[in-house]
Amino acid sequence: MATLEEPPVAIDADKLNEFVFRAVDEVGATLNAALVVMGDKLGLYRAMAGAGALTPVELARRTGVAERYVREWLNAQAAGGYVTYDAKTCSYTLPPEQTVALSDESSPAYLPGFFQLALGSVLDSPHVTEKARSGDGLGWHEHNHNVFEGCERFFRPGYNANLIPEWLPALDGVVEKLEAGAKVADLGCGHGSSTILMAQAFPNSTFVGSDYHEGSIATARERAEEAGVSARVSFHAEPAAEHPGSGYDLVTMFDCLHDMGDPVGAARRVRQLLASDGTWMIVEPMAGDRVEDNLNPVGRAYYGFSTFLCTPASLSQEVGLALGAQAGEARIGDVIAAGGFTRFRRAAETPFNLVFEARP
Ligand SMILES: C[S@@+](CC[C@H](N)C(=O)[O-])C[C@H]1O[C@@H](n2cnc3c(N)ncnc32)[C@H](O)[C@@H]1O
Repeated sequence: MATLEEPPVAIDADKLNEFVFRAVDEVGATLNAALVVMGDKLGLYRAMAGAGALTPVELARRTGVAERYVREWLNAQAAGGYVTYDAKTCSYTLPPEQTVALSDESSPAYLPGFFQLALGSVLDSPHVTEKARSGDGLGWHEHNHNVFEGCERFFRPGYNANLIPEWLPALDGVVEKLEAGAKVADLGCGHGSSTILMAQAFPNSTFVGSDYHEGSIATARERAEEAGVSARVSFHAEPAAEHPGSGYDLVTMFDCLHDMGDPVGAARRVRQLLASDGTWMIVEPMAGDRVEDNLNPVGRAYYGFSTFLCTPASLSQEVGLALGAQAGEARIGDVIAAGGFTRFRRAAETPFNLVFEARP
């Protein structure tokens, strides 16, 4: 009797091999997130910066870390191209470019925060996996410390490089108002790096930062004290949609609108907060409008963060719109229009961020 079995799918052995070896590289890269955080925490990159070739014994002496661990870590770093290895002298060098990217916190290319955020996301992934079964969310506040600190350390170098010289000047008339003395609210401010940066640049203006996560607000207050700007910067723990007041010249949101459960509700609140000629600056992750526009390394990282952080964060809140980190300009524009804004445009961009201006 004839059966209705499907013919076997032909497997291309070369393609299978190629995929498996690509995956081996990615297993190494996955572990490298923790290795970079380890090197950063133990001061290994900083000790190698500008030091030339070092043996494991020399690096261990400089850092006070056990030599056997240092040697194994160095070999993993050398296999990944993060340090170079000289077989003749059994020594390792952090090349100049890696030195900038791995040890210079003031450089826009600084990477350890990005890895710390990735590691924090992976550490919490079992919780997200369980939530995915039911569709429940996982609040930003429910994550581990690496997520909060990694987020701050990942975004801050980009804000340092772009916010004052590029993004604010790209907005219509905003810098003039800030120089004269403006009232500014920074919603979803996390540890407050954007708020503090603006406060340092514009001493005539006053700033309020807010975030629904109390722990982040406590850290933001400490950061403002350390920066010496706490007289003109206050921080409050509250959701964006409940931020009190009115008559703001500028409201900002940095990489957080898409994390909110009800971004339209937040947009409506921003509309009420702003003076009639005020400006809302929205910084969002770089993204195209279509999935196929984002199938690239930046999109890959952001879709990953979005799965573990942004989408569950939004789903954990009321409405749970879950825009995702790759919402793109068209969807963000719809949210802003639904909030009552009549003007919306892309004012600036970097490889990692889109910067929008919305006006009442
Ligand atoms: C990716 S972090 C960005 C933090 C900060 N703006 C920065 O750029 O470093 C997203 C932030 O949005 C905050 N957040 C999420 N939902 C919120 C809401 N409904 N109202 C206020 N803040 C919210 C989170 O607590 C978190 O600090």
